[in-house]
Amino acid sequence: MKLFENYSLKNLNTFHIDVKAEKFIEIESSAELLDFVKNYDMNSKNILVLGGGSNILFTKDFDGTILHLTFKDHQEISENDESVILEADAGMNWDDLVKYSVEKNLGGIENLAMIPGAVGAAPIQNIGAYGQELKDSLFEVEYLDLSEQKFKTLSNEQCKFGYRDSIFKKMLKKNFIITKVLFRLKKNPELILNYGNVLSELKKEGISNPTIKDVSNIVRKIRTEKLPDPNQIGNAGSFFKNPFVDEETFQKIKNEFPDVPYFKQDGKIKIPAAWLIEKSGLKGFRKENVGTYPNQPLVIVNYGKATGKEILDFAMFIRQTVKNKFNIVLEHEVIII
Ligand code: EPU
Repeated sequence: MKLFENYSLKNLNTFHIDVKAEKFIEIESSAELLDFVKNYDMNSKNILVLGGGSNILFTKDFDGTILHLTFKDHQEISENDESVILEADAGMNWDDLVKYSVEKNLGGIENLAMIPGAVGAAPIQNIGAYGQELKDSLFEVEYLDLSEQKFKTLSNEQCKFGYRDSIFKKMLKKNFIITKVLFRLKKNPELILNYGNVLSELKKEGISNPTIKDVSNIVRKIRTEKLPDPNQIGNAGSFFKNPFVDEETFQKIKNEFPDVPYFKQDGKIKIPAAWLIEKSGLKGFRKENVGTYPNQPLVIVNYGKATGKEILDFAMFIRQTVKNKFNIVLEHEVIII
């Protein structure tokens, strides 16, 4: 365990906001974590577990203790004819796990390439991209129950996954720290090619019978062209969730914009927030240090020295403008602290 005081978080959040944590503690194993939880008054101060900092906006210095898990092993623990169970520590970089599974020709998370962040954070919001979601290959989650000070396991079903949602956002709120995630990866998966331009990009490359690696590489190519690299321009991916709307709201929009894009999910209608922002005239819109990314306006970017407060004000302006235009309230996906 390593303890730092008054610790800069600038390189630990992908918006690159220059804030400090009162205390910052690196935890190097699950045993060390349990020891820490047993000996520290967990109610005394704000406690936050920070993974890759890729889905968080700090609006001020953090008055409390940040825990950063640095254990990052992974191993295949069993297999049968169809699949392999792969276990990964919470502190492992998500994309390193994707690269490993693709190299091993194991399918299930190849479309989730290049998502920034840590493995332990992935189940909380059920990360998803290009037609795949974490829940499609997650087997189990191991977490530390903070009040009982015991490690527990949840099955896929018990995690109650939904669109950018899980039990970790609701019932278990704040009373857990994820320590391990287990995946069931397939030896002969059905590849998911029907999202956006995945198939047409494969064709462009002359690939008609793609492998797991081909699909993953195409996703990497699409993301590189469309999304800003957080190491170059601060951002936290999609700032808002894509909203679900009722039939009446949808019909109203369709009357004005017959070509409104939409997806049906769980019997509900989802409209891309990027489209709503674009139609509100805010694609590529910029106010001083903050803007919507020109290629994908759902991503809010820090062009330089923006403070968290500036980014939050900008996001609220986007939300209000979309509300005025469509009477739809965008919910933020990013955690705001
Ligand atoms: N669109 C526009 N204008 C634009 C861009 C997009 O109108 O400038 C519309 C188009 O109709 C397009 C639709 O929005 O078909 C969807 O766009 P895109 O495929 O880029 O995906 P998204 O719905 O905006 C979601 C995830 C992303 C993920 C992509 C790809 C959410 C909140 N975001 O974005 O995840 O990479 O799909 O699967 O669900 C993230 O969560 O941080 C993230 C980047």
